[in-house]
Amino acid sequence: RVKTAVLISGRGSNMVALVTAAQDPNYPADIALVISNRPKAKGLGRAQELGVTAISIDHKAYATREAFEAELDKALSDAKIELICCAGFMRVLTPWFINRWEGRIINIHPSLLPKYKGLNTHARALDAGDREHGCSVHWVSAELDGGAVIKQMSIPIDHRDTAESLADRLLPLELALYPKALAQVARDIKN
Ligand code: GAR
Repeated sequence: RVKTAVLISGRGSNMVALVTAAQDPNYPADIALVISNRPKAKGLGRAQELGVTAISIDHKAYATREAFEAELDKALSDAKIELICCAGFMRVLTPWFINRWEGRIINIHPSLLPKYKGLNTHARALDAGDREHGCSVHWVSAELDGGAVIKQMSIPIDHRDTAESLADRLLPLELALYPKALAQVARDIKN
């Protein structure tokens, strides 16, 4: 099984979906570590309840982005992590970190990439008058939310949708999509 870490910043529902999927011994990845850059992230407690080692590395405790990432990289390397899943991890990573983990780091983003890279994706899809919205799991590359898409799922936008209702309706799709995408990537890495 591919030794995997999940990076979070908050609620951690995508992380929980990955951990739950990986409880099946036939799942090709093992979630060995959860790291939050926010010490108060709800997801840390949820990971611990599920029996996963969960630590925080508070980015605010480091003078520079590079110093924070050096610590992050050390924690991942010490745990012999082979693959990273970003799941609601709200820090932009430097080219140094991304190059070190190239081909071994994926992310979930709440839009149908290449549409709406960055923040406020639900509101932007509504403002644009889009008829559908969705989520994407993609490789992390130097361009923010710009790496190759691995898997996507979409939902129709309803004329009554708000940014909040759209986010709420999209979340179950994210929770279904990410474990499928991770399984595919982990199988590819092993072969
Ligand atoms: C998810 O909707 C994820 O797609 C999004 O943050 C949420 C995290 O929720 N990610 C981004 O916006 C990345 N730019 P979670 O912590 O409950 O998984």
